[in-house]
Amino acid sequence: MGGMAKNHPTTVSAQPHDYLPAAGRDALLPFYDRLTALLGAGELHRTLLAQVGLADGLRVLEIGCGTGNLSVRAKRAHPGVELTGSDPDPLALAVAERKAAGLDGIRFERGYAQRLPYSDAGFDRVLSALMLHHLDDEAKAATAAEVRRVLRPGGSLHLVDFTGTKHGPHGYLASRLMKSGHFSAESAEPGDDILRLLATAGLDATLVATRRHRFLGRVGYYRAGRPA
Ligand SMILES: C[S@@+](CC[C@H](N)C(=O)[O-])C[C@H]1O[C@@H](n2cnc3c(N)ncnc32)[C@H](O)[C@@H]1O
Repeated sequence: MGGMAKNHPTTVSAQPHDYLPAAGRDALLPFYDRLTALLGAGELHRTLLAQVGLADGLRVLEIGCGTGNLSVRAKRAHPGVELTGSDPDPLALAVAERKAAGLDGIRFERGYAQRLPYSDAGFDRVLSALMLHHLDDEAKAATAAEVRRVLRPGGSLHLVDFTGTKHGPHGYLASRLMKSGHFSAESAEPGDDILRLLATAGLDATLVATRRHRFLGRVGYYRAGRPA
């Protein structure tokens, strides 16, 4: 939930990142879990998982897993799934790994959503929570194509992200993110831009629900299937 996307100069070690970290800058990562819990991320993750239909044996990939809250929640609720969490941020991945200590069948790996280090058709489900707005338009399009590639035919993406219209309404946080220029406020109807993005990649996309969270503003829950 940061504010910029490409080549932004967020640093801890004087190394600029080519991704936007979870809390916008590395130094804020230790506060990320507490802050997002207060903002209602737990409820948002629960709502997303309720639409996924997880079952034993499914191979699940979370893109932009950050500190691992959604992946670990999914694994605890469905111990029989094979979970892979992927994120470019090694600091966030280290936190995720600590949370998953002692759990079998869950791993966290470094990776960018727009060039996933996985073979074709290797996953039954892909999850994405509050990650898409971290990407610029080019990376969003590449990500949608990558999701289609790594999903098996008949598999599905389940995604939640800020969803506004040019008329709003937005929560404070979403408004700040939109001002950063990497959040589309152009769609006439909630979710139009994300639906278009997913459809362009060849996914059958639907807006499952929109919810207005008190602090996060309006978010959309999407399902996008790879045709069988
Ligand atoms: C707001 S956090 C959400 C983390 C997690 N999904 C959650 O719901 O708690 C967004 C995450 O997207 C990651 N991210 C940024 N650029 C990315 C990229 N190009 N590919 C994959 N993840 C990226 C960030 O490192 C961060 O962990």
